Amino acid sequence: MTQSAQLVIVANRLPVDRVELPDGSRGWRRSPGGLVSALDPVIRGSDGVWIGWAGGTETDLEPFVDDGLSLVPVSLTQQDVEEFYEGMSNATLWPIYHDVVAKPEFHREWWDTYVDVNRRYAEKAAEVAEQGATVWVHDYQLQLVPQMLRELRPDLRIGFYLHIPFPPAELFAQLPWRRQVLEGLLGADLVGFQIAGGAANFVRLVRQRVGHKTHRDVVYLPDGRTVRAAAFPISIDAQAFEELARSDSVAERSEEIRTALGNPSKVFLGIDRLDYTKGIYARLRAFSELISDGLLDVEDAVFVQVATPSRERVEQYRILRDDIDRLVGRVNGDLGRIGRPAISYLHSAYPREEMAALYRAADIMVVTPFRDGMNLVAKEYVACRYDDDGALVLSEFAGASNELRQAWLVNPYDINGMKAALLDAYRADGKERSRRMKAMRKTVLKNDVAAWAAGFLESMAQVGRDE
Ligand code: F6P
Repeated sequence: MTQSAQLVIVANRLPVDRVELPDGSRGWRRSPGGLVSALDPVIRGSDGVWIGWAGGTETDLEPFVDDGLSLVPVSLTQQDVEEFYEGMSNATLWPIYHDVVAKPEFHREWWDTYVDVNRRYAEKAAEVAEQGATVWVHDYQLQLVPQMLRELRPDLRIGFYLHIPFPPAELFAQLPWRRQVLEGLLGADLVGFQIAGGAANFVRLVRQRVGHKTHRDVVYLPDGRTVRAAAFPISIDAQAFEELARSDSVAERSEEIRTALGNPSKVFLGIDRLDYTKGIYARLRAFSELISDGLLDVEDAVFVQVATPSRERVEQYRILRDDIDRLVGRVNGDLGRIGRPAISYLHSAYPREEMAALYRAADIMVVTPFRDGMNLVAKEYVACRYDDDGALVLSEFAGASNELRQAWLVNPYDINGMKAALLDAYRADGKERSRRMKAMRKTVLKNDVAAWAAGFLESMAQVGRDE
């Protein structure tokens, strides 16, 4: 049975991954990443359908309902996983879109598979969407879907949202398939970005590389259609996070965590997918130098770093994992004492309850990516600090820094600057912490994920109607 719907979400991944359970049977586990955390509450509030990959290479998965969500799996073969997901998406586009923090690889066969897989997602969406439905396509893995889908189903309203940064024209220009990607995106009525700079980069590129007329945030296509490009900063279900953080079980767990850490006076925390864009290595170095400089003491302070396994077969991610393993081993070997490691390193994924307990337990949250579309961890931390306490050290290069201006903002390439900010946040008094946290909480609670989704969907319904 294929379900049909008036709202269809198309994303690379489903919100759940097919996994082998400890007893050997097959089951489902929540997928990693900010996209799933953001979209889950959106689709729950509608009768929509979510199309995506279940994370493996099983080919016989039928549409199903999981925890109240209607899910339609797209199958990927081993070759698709290697060339579309690990290759083109995560070894070509990901580094280009993140300031070339790692060197992008270009392979023509990866591109061919990217085109094929995008077509399969578009065909699935065309099958599932009811007449005149709204289809909302997500992220860099599926940039060709809007155009392919429009060709199949001109009756649909199509939106596209990019969860990661959209690069400056100079970097995007390296992509051998730059024109095809721009044309793919132009199949949408509305193309959404995390920040205004991304939308401006896109419009400029469309003018330069495709030659369409543009005015401000609108692109005029030769067939009379218009496409709008605008910023819609993504967010979280802030209230749900706050409620979770307030629960007795999370409060208890947070106490347990601090006790297990030896009740240090200050806990620093990092929670990231293990990705080279996140700046984990540089931040741990900055922290460890504060200890070796004698400005922090392992009896007083510990850094808890949670690194969620991610894209483990992609070479750059393997290298990063080895680098971090080595750094943590060296720092703890050199600076730790019995029962007092400088860094408590966890290479694992945790459920939301555990994350909320960690946020509650952390005095200083450290979010220092070299480049990040938004970074929802920063917003989750703020949402959980209903006590108006806790300090956030945040990279200027995370989209979240546009909104969370009261964080301790840092340039993650500047190790001394990061050391100074970590120390300042460590030493800040309660009044200072509360002043900053209160202001950030106001922003996060007001601009939550429901407001983000409503803003995007309303704008999408408007495109072409008010010009
Ligand atoms: O937004 C970034 C993103 O790539 C999402 O598309 C994705 O869901 C998340 O990060 C996690 O990455 P992956 O799906 O490659 O594990």
